Amino acid sequence: MKGVVLAGGKGSRLYPLTYATNKHLLPVFNQPMVFYPIQTLVKAGITEILVVTGGPHAGHFIRVLKNGKELGVSHLEYAYQEGEGGISEALKLAEDFADNDSICVILGDNCTDAEIKTNVSAFKDGALIFLKEVPDPERFGVPTLGKSGEVMEIQEKPKKPASPYAVTGLYIYDNTVFDKINQIKPSQRGELEITDVNNLYIKEKRMKSTILDGYWRDAGTFKTLFEANNYWAHKQ
Ligand code: G1P
Repeated sequence: MKGVVLAGGKGSRLYPLTYATNKHLLPVFNQPMVFYPIQTLVKAGITEILVVTGGPHAGHFIRVLKNGKELGVSHLEYAYQEGEGGISEALKLAEDFADNDSICVILGDNCTDAEIKTNVSAFKDGALIFLKEVPDPERFGVPTLGKSGEVMEIQEKPKKPASPYAVTGLYIYDNTVFDKINQIKPSQRGELEITDVNNLYIKEKRMKSTILDGYWRDAGTFKTLFEANNYWAHKQ
């Protein structure tokens, strides 16, 4: 399995912090934010990684990550996303890199200390998403759960969430993900949504889910960025 870290965008939600650098390079305690998703992959045994970035400060990534060796990455590639076309559009750039293999995708602002090695080793095909109970599900993709806990649908940022769970920005996909990206259309916010890709897996009955076991924050707002800093500053 290969790893893809999606770290593009202008980071406008965090202006003025992101006027001079990319959101994913801001500090989370003693490391740049993007180190955390990379470490999640490396700890799971995934050491071939593509970082998809974009925006005006994309060049900063090479200064910070270099060839990835210091983080235990055996093979590091970079791709550049033009514009702000969404997560699925960014993921499309990983097709050649994936080379028919399955991929573990993580958003560059998703910081977790959860271990996903057993999920990665057990993965065969279809897709696996990781859920986490949160106080503010309306900020995320939210699953509708069936009687036995199966995911029946995912809604992106629903006004009335169907469950208290967020779909975290950590996904495992087989190679059919790229056909699915080609089938979806831009959402109302003009983006190719990862939620639409996930719903295609659900329709095919090839989506599994599990609870992410550990601390998790999407550090993309001032408050959650602060919380993530605080968590790692006090973690033993
Ligand atoms: C994205 C996804 C959303 C997911 C979240 C996790 O939201 O669209 O489904 O729950 O990441 O961090 P965004 O950060 O683009 O608002």
